[in-house]
Amino acid sequence: MPSPRLFEPLKLGQLELANRILIAPMCQYSAHEGNATDWHTIHLGHLALSGAGLLILEATAVSPEGRISPDDLGLWNDDNEQALKATLEAVRAHSTMPLGIQLGHAGRKASTHAPWDGGAQIAPDDPRGWQAVAPSAIAWGEEENAPHALTLEEINDIREQFKRAAERSARLGIEAIELHAAHGYLLHQFLSPLSNQRSDEYGGSLENRTRLTLEIFDAVRDVFPQERPVGIRISATDWADGGWRVEESQALARELDARGCSFIHVSSGGLTSAQQIPVGPSYQVPLARAIGEVVEMPTIAVGLITEPEQAEAIVATGDADAVALARTMLYNPRWPWHAAAALGAQVSAPNQYLRSQPRQYKDLFLDQ
Ligand SMILES: Cc1cc2nc3c(=O)[nH]c(=O)nc-3n(C[C@H](O)[C@H](O)[C@H](O)COP(=O)(O)O)c2cc1C
Repeated sequence: MPSPRLFEPLKLGQLELANRILIAPMCQYSAHEGNATDWHTIHLGHLALSGAGLLILEATAVSPEGRISPDDLGLWNDDNEQALKATLEAVRAHSTMPLGIQLGHAGRKASTHAPWDGGAQIAPDDPRGWQAVAPSAIAWGEEENAPHALTLEEINDIREQFKRAAERSARLGIEAIELHAAHGYLLHQFLSPLSNQRSDEYGGSLENRTRLTLEIFDAVRDVFPQERPVGIRISATDWADGGWRVEESQALARELDARGCSFIHVSSGGLTSAQQIPVGPSYQVPLARAIGEVVEMPTIAVGLITEPEQAEAIVATGDADAVALARTMLYNPRWPWHAAAALGAQVSAPNQYLRSQPRQYKDLFLDQ
């Protein structure tokens, strides 16, 4: 069997990953006032034993208003930083897996219930809710309260909030930052003409709609240590008439590439309820390939990648440089071990678990 590409190292900027399996960011709706809790230690702790090349922490809000739900993880104050520090110390005590963090702002999709409580908007006058903000006062859903259209001063504040969260991430020793510009959250709202109908320098032309994302990239890149990567996650298309398009994603990706972006994580959708997504195995991989064709930086494919051979084919054919897995990792947190066994490769595993390897079962029986 030829040695699998999936288990070859990959460099994101100067950070070398042991293999090309990434754990995609996944909101846990389990923080308290933005602070990580024991749940995060358990959740991140077990994923950090999986042998993946990089674990990206969930969408982490740069301000209280930037949370999707009141229970989102945040990194806007010292308490948040201290709480996350304790979690990361526990995780790092037992894993050398590099940790990335996804920094985001929910924009008009803020102030909602957790998915298991229905995910609906929480009204601004509800004690647990708040007034959402956005490029324009256009609500996500017809029944929802419209967001407040950001002033130029408020846009400047948000750029500063990203910068400060990046400084906190640097102090926490986090190895990589992923900017969340996907799934219909604030930066994506600025990119898409469906949600951005501003008439100032942040709306209208492609140059204007991409301005905030690029400014925030530059601000974050500026304060995060140069040897650690700053990348981005985008929705490459809105899958809707009049929305953000693949060609525009390519233009944004080129511009980010020129500014020293370290990777681009290619997802799609989430901006409008009018989206028509052709969901199926690897359905977003062609989008990753389209972006990869115009940039030098590594591309990451994500979305319904569930099988080792499927992941290997994506990387081996050059559709993307790496794959990210979300739901599959929750269902089977040792997926990289199983993929390595299936493809004839190896990943690191903790000493305490080494006897779980099939060739060690014999010893287990002898000892009992
Ligand atoms: C529980 C859960 C939480 C998620 N939270 C985030 C998030 O914080 N940021 C993000 O960009 N995507 C988030 N996603 C989307 C995933 O990162 C991923 O793009 C999507 O689930 C498709 O990949 P999959 O088919 O491997 O699950 C979440 C998905 C799940 C299932």
